[in-house]
Amino acid sequence: EAGRRPLIAGNWKLNLDHLQSIAFVQKLAWSLQDAKLDFRTVEVAVFPPFTDLRSVQSLIVSDHFPITFGAQDVSEHDSGAYTGEISGAFLKALECTYAIVGHSERRSYHHETSELVGAKAAAAIRHGLVPVICVGETAEDLEARGASAVPVEQLETALAGLPKGSDIVVAYEPVWAIGSGQAATPEQAENVAAQLRAVVGTALGEEAGAATRILYGGSVKSGNIASFLREPNVDGALVGGASLVVDEFAKIARFQS
Ligand code: G3P
Repeated sequence: EAGRRPLIAGNWKLNLDHLQSIAFVQKLAWSLQDAKLDFRTVEVAVFPPFTDLRSVQSLIVSDHFPITFGAQDVSEHDSGAYTGEISGAFLKALECTYAIVGHSERRSYHHETSELVGAKAAAAIRHGLVPVICVGETAEDLEARGASAVPVEQLETALAGLPKGSDIVVAYEPVWAIGSGQAATPEQAENVAAQLRAVVGTALGEEAGAATRILYGGSVKSGNIASFLREPNVDGALVGGASLVVDEFAKIARFQS
């Protein structure tokens, strides 16, 4: 991990309404405090639906919970006639640290291209948010071209218009591993993560390449998290299903204990 603080991020997807989000974050923070999690050695973040963000912000900020949060998407536009869109400025005003861009569910159900993902990442950066740029191959891609070709292309395209030195997070999520119970092996995650780091270095500069956290996502749970974090180029996890169960997510965050 070479000085990079691991990030354990929970992507709630379309789960937990604003009342449930309050109960969840409260329980999570108490559980991590009880376990005396050392937040200097790991960052824990949640990614609730847009409509929860205000509640989560109020709770985290007013109770000084050492948890960060972000949105699951952001518009590439800053304002105007874009019905249904949410701007980076709005998210920043709610004290979001991050915005996920290019999750495979948005790429497949909403036909998002890597060019659009790049525009969304640029919008996040413009507004002082850190984009969590998701890439990953489908089972067909894996079969036809191996694990790394598609994620590398997706990331090269998404980074093409970003300023050198941009602060980003990359999430490598093989599509076939998402929600399937079939995680990639730590070796595969490491192999792709190392190539993605090289892409960041080329696009954003060597320093950014070395500083950028690269997460693995896809069927991460408390039983396999430590094996991914042992890999030198894997700096955390983007967790879906297991992030919705407080005790399980807290266990994942405590992967070092
Ligand atoms: O963004 C995280 C996600 O796609 C992984 O989902 O349920 O396999 O942990 P899951």
